[in-house]
Formats: sequence, C-alpha cells, structure tokens
Amino acid sequence: MPHTITAAEVAAKNPIGIVLSGGPSSVYDAGSPSLDPGILELGVPTLGICYGFQVMAQQLGGEVANTGLREYGATAVTLAPGASTLLGDQPSEQTTWMSHGDSVSKAPEGFTVLASSASTPVAAFSSDEKKMYGVQWHPEVKHSEYGQRVLENFLHDAAGIPADWNSSNVIEEQVARIREQVGTGKVIVGLSGGVDSAVAAAIVHKAVGDQLTAIFVDHGLLRQDERRQVEEDYVASTGVRLITVDAVDQFLDALAGVTDPEQKRKIIGREFIRSFEGAAEALVLEAQGDGTTIDFLVQGTLYPDVVESGGGSGTANIKSHHNVGGLPEDLQFKLVEPLRTLFKDEVRAIGRELGLPEVIVSRQPFPGPGLGIRIVGEVTRERLDLLRKADAIARAELTAAGLDNEIWQCPVVLLADVRSVGVQGDGRTYGHPIVLRPVSSEDAMTADWTRLPYDVLARISNRITNEVAGVNRVVLDVTSKPPGTIEWE
Ligand code: XMP
Repeated sequence: MPHTITAAEVAAKNPIGIVLSGGPSSVYDAGSPSLDPGILELGVPTLGICYGFQVMAQQLGGEVANTGLREYGATAVTLAPGASTLLGDQPSEQTTWMSHGDSVSKAPEGFTVLASSASTPVAAFSSDEKKMYGVQWHPEVKHSEYGQRVLENFLHDAAGIPADWNSSNVIEEQVARIREQVGTGKVIVGLSGGVDSAVAAAIVHKAVGDQLTAIFVDHGLLRQDERRQVEEDYVASTGVRLITVDAVDQFLDALAGVTDPEQKRKIIGREFIRSFEGAAEALVLEAQGDGTTIDFLVQGTLYPDVVESGGGSGTANIKSHHNVGGLPEDLQFKLVEPLRTLFKDEVRAIGRELGLPEVIVSRQPFPGPGLGIRIVGEVTRERLDLLRKADAIARAELTAAGLDNEIWQCPVVLLADVRSVGVQGDGRTYGHPIVLRPVSSEDAMTADWTRLPYDVLARISNRITNEVAGVNRVVLDVTSKPPGTIEWE
C-alpha cells in the first residue's frame, strides 16, 4: 500500500500485521513520505524497517537526528542484554546490512532499546505492550545474518501468524480458485519450455484437466533436447494436452539473410505470434463445433512482474499479450495467473511438488528469441546445429561441476561472422569462435561475469573444439553488465 493510505482504509482491510518499509528519503526532507498517525493506533502489530523505523520513532514521540554519521553496507550491531520478542533468540554480536543517513537518537516513551551500532545508539526498539517493533537495518536482505529470524519473530511471535506456507497449500488454494474462475470454460496456454509457463500450465491442468490445451511453438531456435523434454517428459509427468506447432522452416525462411539483431528479434516475435495465433484460431474453430469458446489464457506472471508494473489489477481482458507479443484483437481472453503471488524459488518448489521434470524446474533463464540472438551473423540451420552442440557441452559440464547454482545463466554464443586460424590434427583450420558468457546476477538488471574454475573452463574448451566441427577457438567474456548486456544481441 502507498504511505498515503488512511487509518480507516487500513482498518477496513483488517490486517494481521503491518510492515513499514525502507525508502530513500530523510524524515527531514520536505514532502518525505509520512503516515496517517491513526495507523499506529489501530493496535495492529507493526514492524518498521529503516526509514519505516524512523517514521515510527518520530510519530510515536521519539527523536530522529541527522548526525552526519552514515552507515552503508555490512554493519556490526550489539544487542542489548535481556529477553525480547524480536531479537531474543539471536547472538549479541551480529552483522547487519544498513543503508541510512539519519538515526533514531531516542526511542519513544515506553519503548525498549534492543540494539545499537557504533554510530547509531538506537538501532532497534520494541514495545510488546503496543506490539510495535523496529530495526534500523534491513532484515529482508540476505547480507543481514539473522534478518530472516527477525521477520519470523515478528510474524510468528508478535503478530501470531502461523508459519503454514507450503507448496501443497498453495497448489490446493490455486486449484480451488482456478476451478471457480474457469468453471466449464476452455483454456489455452503457450508453453515456452521455461519454468514459469510449465508450472502455471501444470496447476491449471490439475484444476481443470482437458479443458486446458497447451501450445508449444518449435521455432528451431531451441536448445538441444528441449522439444523432447516438453513433448515427452513434461507431458508424461503432467498429462497436459499439448499441440506442438512445427514452425522451423517458417522461422528459418523469415530469418534468411538477416544479420541485424533488432531485426532478428522483430522477425522472431512476429513469426511467434503468427504461429501461436494460428494454433489458437484452429482451437477456437474446433471448440465452436461443440458450442463453446475459448475464454481463458494462462500466463506465468510472477509476483516481481506484478510489483514492477505497479500493482496490476487482477483479471483483465487483453488484446495484446506481453509474453507472446500481441494477439489479434478478435481473440479476447480472460487471464488465469496462478503464480501471481509467488517468487521464482516458490514456483520451482511448486513445480517439484507437482512432479515436473527437474530439467524444466531448475532451468536457467533463456531468452524468448532463443539461439537466434546467440548467433552473431545470419541464422542458418547448420549454424544452429553447431551452436546447439556447443551449448549442450557447456551446460553439461557446468552441471557436472555442480556450478548451476553459482551462475545466473551462461549464454553460449557463436561468432558466425568471425573466423580465425587454428591447427587441428596436422592441418590448418579456419573456423569460428564460441564465446562463453557465464554471469552472476540477482535479477538480470545488473550482472557480473562469473569466475568459473579454470579446470572447468578447460574441459568445456577442449570438448567444444574436439567435438564441434567448425569451431577452433573458445573465448571467455569477462564483461560485467553494464557495460555489456548479458546476451550478445
Ligand atoms: P540482457 O541481454 O538484456 O538480458 O542483459 C537480460 C535477461 O533477459 C533475457 N532476455 C530475454 N528474455 N525475451 C526473453 O524472454 C527476450 O527477448 C530476451 N532478451 C534477453 C536474458 O537471457 C537475460 O536473462
């Protein structure tokens, strides 16, 4: 909720707890976010974090000082001795993650100071009587050693919320909700081979069975074995009714002679829509035969997508579909979004619970335009085959070395317009380089190149140059993002 929400509006929602989040402002800035004071009088358990902690302190009669002493990054705090609901089960010396200029210099009347740091005398406080709690640090980031514990203590011990989230509950809840939403309607979903659409489709299938049809477009830009994994492993484990559109020739014809990255992306997007649209229209026609229409489209929207787009408004009639690029105006669907409140790790947990193949559940991000934007130069069948082999080797070796969790993703790129001289066997070669682009990232907005062990790099390089005809050199991309993007095109 925005900070402008009134106490009456909050009360109407009947919350079991309130978290006042951090933010970049100073409480002394003109127009800085403040709070309807009535919110703190509702008797609802409240946790203030960073700026939220300072606003709480100020509004409850404590003091916030602009001391000129800033704390950014890892900061040691010392807990005050004695029992406390919020921090009682934690070591008295611990590392927290701070990011603030102002500091709380005096806790409000009746509050107990729970912790301090070198430059912040009041780094945490609480009043069990008022059910008010606050920390100057950021318990929500993983660099705060016991941050998760702070959140658990607040939710569980202060607000009395049972820790009953598990993947089975979510599945049951969603299945009931989808049944109610869809009724006897027909539903379609576009499977990309990625984890989100795969899990979304599997939950919807569990709810409404063969009222769902999945459409999978094979554009020939997929990685090795992906089509088989979807058509065989995924279908076997879920029972989803699947239509594969074999569009390889269509895509390769459209891409012939094209080298400009943006043009490639536009062509791939356009052809994708055509293929999906064609399959969807065929289904609509088929369904009309039995007097029904297709009313629903499943999307694998996750919570971060909802947050990034400023909240979203639930079910909507759509004309253009972001993930497939824009469906025709006369196809109108209501959205079914079973993953809308979940994060990626939760989606993976649910996928496992639903028995989806591990290769799909643990898949790293892969761009929609696929290998088409990993060939620098014209996309041809031969080049795709070559790149698919090199990519499969790199992925197999990274997995065998147990590095899948270290990296966000590792694009493997073919520089099809570059050739260099090599020597293989007894002869001269004039082949293409393959680029390895291993990156570490939290959200793909920024990234750093991953320092992979040399012996793993050596194995990948040896295998690619030995096993992939036409490649005589493997190079490593050591550029962060920015300035480089993760993908080369
Ligand atoms: P860049 O190259 O912009 O990539 O640093 C950031 C992340 O987005 C992925 N990516 C895409 N994903 N459709 C997608 O679904 C696309 O067109 C696309 N382009 C890039 C990329 O793999 C990385 O994870």
